[in-house]
Amino acid sequence: MGDFDGLVALVTGGGSGIGRSTAELLSGRGARVAVLDLAANGLPEEMLFVRADVTDDQSVRDAVAAVVEHFGGIDVVVNNAGIGAQGDVAAATDDEWLKVLDVNVVGMARVARACLPHLRNSRAAAIVNTGSIAGTAGLPQRAVYSASKGAVHAFTRALAADHIREGIRVNAVAPGTADTPWVRRLLDSAPDPAAELAALEARQPHGRLVSADEIAGAIAYLASPLSGSTTGTVLAVDGGMDAL
Ligand code: NAI
Repeated sequence: MGDFDGLVALVTGGGSGIGRSTAELLSGRGARVAVLDLAANGLPEEMLFVRADVTDDQSVRDAVAAVVEHFGGIDVVVNNAGIGAQGDVAAATDDEWLKVLDVNVVGMARVARACLPHLRNSRAAAIVNTGSIAGTAGLPQRAVYSASKGAVHAFTRALAADHIREGIRVNAVAPGTADTPWVRRLLDSAPDPAAELAALEARQPHGRLVSADEIAGAIAYLASPLSGSTTGTVLAVDGGMDAL
């Protein structure tokens, strides 16, 4: 028995990294879990996979309809699918801006829009968006990505304000650099992966990368009825980066 017994959770980007850890944690705590992603990526059998691209509104709506058809509703939405971008503003093309904002910001809005009618029918409705320390602090060489995550934090508060009277809570997590396949890809492409890892670890005040499980734990808290009086917050999971 778990605190998500009887609840249905939809996790976007649940095929990898933070999303995968979150899907596994919620499932272990009793939720029936659907994962929306570009690819199933060896998803455990007990989870429902719905293939969709968050930049394609029709595919998002079809995926949400498939989840509701299968599970009978949606209570928890973990809006987590996202992509990274490196470089300063001089290096970023318009196409890169539009692509990153389309996935990281408008993608979350598409998923929220498709899910809202179903969340209104839930007794424990919660949306948790994955923001980033990049949306809170100024990080070098992350101009486009930081702008997208700052927008996620502002969108989280606006969405919370719009839907609090409907009983739908909306919060975000703001992770520091986390040990996920995304960051491992970044390290692999660096000229000196070991030096790059050391630099990323040194940037975290607690001296190491954040684990995907630690972020999943924060997401689960914000998604669970235990945080029933919490809405419109951005919870840092960043090893103290925002505090210093
Ligand atoms: P990841 O690359 O391991 O996983 C991201 C997942 O999102 C993948 O399964 C990918 O297929 C999916 N995805 C990407 N674009 C999509 C699209 N258009 N439609 C549907 N699914 C799509 O990345 P990670 O590290 O787990 O990141 C997850 C979230 O956490 C992202 O929003 C990221 O911005 C955020 N984050 C990550 C941090 C890190 O250091 N890894 C730090 C702070 C925030």
